[in-house]
Amino acid sequence: SLPPLVDPFQRAITYLRVSVTDRCDFRCVYCMAEDMTFLPKRDLLSLEELDRLCSAFISRGVRKLRLTGGEPLVRRDLMTLIRGLSRHLDSGALEELTLTTNGSQLARYATELAEAGVRRINVSVDTLKPDLFRTITRRGDLGRVLDGISAARAAGIHVKINAVALKDQNEDELADMMVWAHGHGMDLTLIETMPLGEIDGDRTDQYLPLSLVRARLAQRFTLTDLPDRTGGPARYVHVAETGGRLGLITPMTHNFCESCNRVRVTCTGTLFMCLGQEDAADLRGPMRQSEGDEALHDAIERAIARKPKGHDFIIDRQQKPSVGRHMSVTGG
Ligand code: GTP
Ligand code: 5AD
Ligand code: SF4
Repeated sequence: SLPPLVDPFQRAITYLRVSVTDRCDFRCVYCMAEDMTFLPKRDLLSLEELDRLCSAFISRGVRKLRLTGGEPLVRRDLMTLIRGLSRHLDSGALEELTLTTNGSQLARYATELAEAGVRRINVSVDTLKPDLFRTITRRGDLGRVLDGISAARAAGIHVKINAVALKDQNEDELADMMVWAHGHGMDLTLIETMPLGEIDGDRTDQYLPLSLVRARLAQRFTLTDLPDRTGGPARYVHVAETGGRLGLITPMTHNFCESCNRVRVTCTGTLFMCLGQEDAADLRGPMRQSEGDEALHDAIERAIARKPKGHDFIIDRQQKPSVGRHMSVTGG
């Protein structure tokens, strides 16, 4: 069998994020512009190619696979892909098969996801105020998302809520959201907005450092750092008053790149070794070049050998976004 993937900084690549579509039924203000150009549909990897790609990474030591988007559940036949990939859970090669979703279609797919072996999902909810939810997502309906979350939980799937901390928008609501999430037995993870792609607004007007949010929460709640990791970028704290866990994803105020274990692939088969860098490698060509996976493994190895040390995100009024592509191209 082939050796596991280790980068030049001795970081083992055990987590693969696959964006199955860059399209989304929402247009979150920190993620997308109102008017977006998506990747041409003819360039998309087929379901068979997505499966082949994921399986190649799993054979090289990937233990956690997250399907993202855009919105993964808007890709037609996604359930076919997931059901196929679940064979790697059955064989024990894969520890976790999961999804990050905006929840808009979750009510419809919850049972099928659970049956396919999905035990945990992350759902993005940036506010619990219906009007503000519409303002932030531009198209989303909070009620539908909450119904999706209930359906997932009823199907036995653990739900983690992701909220991007946004200055002036959900800033004064974050404590309430935490109490709500923990009250329903869900973790809440807060995320600092990252400068990926042109959006219509100015990111300096949105950016809220989590160091500040944490300091404010600490005035009302007893926060204790936890050693727990989920294999993602979040650091967790235990909240004594709610008994729940709060995750903090802080690329801007506290870089976590030294423990990076992940790479991401777009829906057209482009591998990005770092969320915050432009360097990428095409995997679709090598995959289509031959039926065997030799060229594919070769391309993967050459790419991992150039995985950069980390991102150098800055949010600054004077400056263009650090990275030209939108978050929806790689799904984070
Ligand atoms: P868990 O498995 O629950 O830990 O999930 P996760 O945090 O790995 O995944 P999720 O899709 O929920 O991502 C949450 C946030 O983390 C998103 O905003 C992602 O863009 C961000 N994120 C994930 N990986 C990276 C990374 O390598 N670098 C940076 N800067 N952000 C990342
Ligand atoms: N910065 C930080 N998080 C972002 N997300 C989307 N765009 C950005 C950004 N620019 C979040 C979504 C979702 C996760 C996949 O990434 O809200 O929770
Ligand atoms: Fe869609 Fe997620 Fe981006 Fe919002 S953050 S526009 S839900 S991909």
